[in-house]
Amino acid sequence: MDEPDASPRSGDDATSLICDFASGAVGHRFRFGGGRGEPLSRAAGFTHGNRPDVVDATAGLGRDAFLLASLGAHVTLIERSAAIHSLLQDGLARARASGPALAAVVGRMTLLQGDAKTYLPDLRPPVVVVDPMHPTRRGTALVKKEMRMLREVVGTDPDALDLMDVALKSATRRVVLKWPLRAEPMPGLRAPTYSIAGKALRFDIFMV
Ligand SMILES: C[S@@+](CC[C@H](N)C(=O)[O-])C[C@H]1O[C@@H](n2cnc3c(N)ncnc32)[C@H](O)[C@@H]1O
Repeated sequence: MDEPDASPRSGDDATSLICDFASGAVGHRFRFGGGRGEPLSRAAGFTHGNRPDVVDATAGLGRDAFLLASLGAHVTLIERSAAIHSLLQDGLARARASGPALAAVVGRMTLLQGDAKTYLPDLRPPVVVVDPMHPTRRGTALVKKEMRMLREVVGTDPDALDLMDVALKSATRRVVLKWPLRAEPMPGLRAPTYSIAGKALRFDIFMV
């Protein structure tokens, strides 16, 4: 897909997007040892002593990848938007420089730029996480400002079904799809093996 224009805009300014692992909700959860019981880590198959390698095929601002790496997993992040990839690089560098605890987590995170559909068949990881831009709902004031800004930069991920197809052929254990709790399933996608519901999102798990 051609990358949508990421140039500065006025109003909801997409240039104010930032990737920050040290502060905000992500940093807070990390400092207070959260993450273990999170739906995402359960969906990825993390159990006591079991931390399979993960490819996060839709890295975005890296929050999901950071959560999984903070629990001890090695996570490969793939992001195709050059603008978002560069934000991630910055965020990872700042985290690395901010102290040994964060540096240890970031040391388990490997960032790649490009289309995950190209990388996945070679990587063949046990677990693939897919979190494409979600379909907008009518009256969607609830969509967080940050998500709206991200959408301005990366667009809508119309090839999400193709990405799921490649993920399902490449993962050796499971694919986790993060999807709005009440949204219709992705058209054309087979039914998941099971789902784990969060507050506004659900994790559909496809065992392979
Ligand atoms: C909803 S965001 C992901 C948010 C992320 N889970 C987080 O925790 O911050 C989706 C991201 O996936 C990226 N993306 C979508 N399809 C992709 C693909 N085929 N390969 C690489 N990146 C992709 C988009 O550019 C966007 O940045």
